Amino acid sequence: MAKKEPILDAKFAQSLVDIIAAELNKNVNIVDEDGIIIASFSPERIGKLHEAAALHLTGSLAEEFSVSEADEKKWPGVRSGFNVAIRYRNRRAGFIGVTGQPETAAPYARLAARFVAAALEANERQQLLLKTLREKKELQSSLLNQIIRVQEEERRKISRELHDETSQSLTSIIMGLRLLAEQMPEEAWREKVLAMREVAAGTLDAVHRLAVELRPLLLDDLGLAPALQRYAETYAKQYGINVQLDVSEVAGCRFLPEIETALYRIVQEALTNIAKHAEASQVWICIGKKQRRLYCRVQDDGKGFERTILNKAVDGRPCLGIHGMQERVELLQGEFEIISQPGGGTTVWVEVPARKR
Ligand SMILES: Nc1ncnc2c1ncn2[C@@H]1O[C@H](COP(=O)(O)OP(=O)(O)OP(=O)(O)O)[C@@H](O)[C@H]1O
Ligand SMILES: [Mg+2]
Repeated sequence: MAKKEPILDAKFAQSLVDIIAAELNKNVNIVDEDGIIIASFSPERIGKLHEAAALHLTGSLAEEFSVSEADEKKWPGVRSGFNVAIRYRNRRAGFIGVTGQPETAAPYARLAARFVAAALEANERQQLLLKTLREKKELQSSLLNQIIRVQEEERRKISRELHDETSQSLTSIIMGLRLLAEQMPEEAWREKVLAMREVAAGTLDAVHRLAVELRPLLLDDLGLAPALQRYAETYAKQYGINVQLDVSEVAGCRFLPEIETALYRIVQEALTNIAKHAEASQVWICIGKKQRRLYCRVQDDGKGFERTILNKAVDGRPCLGIHGMQERVELLQGEFEIISQPGGGTTVWVEVPARKR
């Protein structure tokens, strides 16, 4: 038969005994449903059978009993005093005893029993609350997971469409315009067509950038290291910030898609933050493996910031970037840290389980 879950946890009972003993200035002990002393003012008695309580728990429905001096002689170790049942969900969860003359100990024992029962109820309410909170958090995580998956899928689709359809059509237009320009008899017309070609070429560039920003095909096709290499190169050119990227430890490795996506998006957000806020001239990015963990560090030599800013709204809206990074890492059961101080640069540190494809 499976062992039933004890109602009174020994540690919890001991903390109650300590409080009650200190308040009442009396010797107090608590026995469980089987009559075993699980908490006591005298530690040497813990774990011993309280014969008198055990007798009542098996042989009577008594709510209270006293131990006399005669009983003390019968059961060495059991002290004289007054014992009151701890009521919990209409059953006796055990007894709480206060030692001393039974008549003087009785009111204290009754008070202590009420206190323990109230503490048990409060504890139960708290456990229930924690359980509800845990369930809510799980639901929230699974919803967030779903949102991220759908969003990435949508981005992947649009990015492919831009790459395969829109870019191809624009390329045909650009080539056609060049041929057309060559056949134009008049210089002025030729220049007009070439100017249109320039506009189309600019649009092609913009479409390409947009497709990469949405979701780089490299990430799905070749993995994290090549996708980050490409992103870092474009970023360095665009913002004039020196980027040193070290992905040597993960070159050629493929991880679960959600891990690759999360780390890519985290680096992307960290780099965007550096461009927007840091006034940095140098960035170091490192992705590495340590046993079965994958870590990622993005560090800059910029102006840094006060950590308390993260709890506040900036310009009336909450900062979502850093909280978003943290959420993504939590979904992967990883660890996230951001280290920064004014004037001291910023480091984003992430560690996640390195689950391979
Ligand atoms: N690398 C950095 N250097 C300096 N300050 C930074 C850096 N990264 C973040 N910060 C500061 O932390 C704040 C919060 O960043 P977070 O990415 O959460 O929000 P945000 O960039 O302001 O807005 P968004 O929600 O669009 O990302 C920023 O407003 C900025 O003040
Ligand atoms: Mg941001």
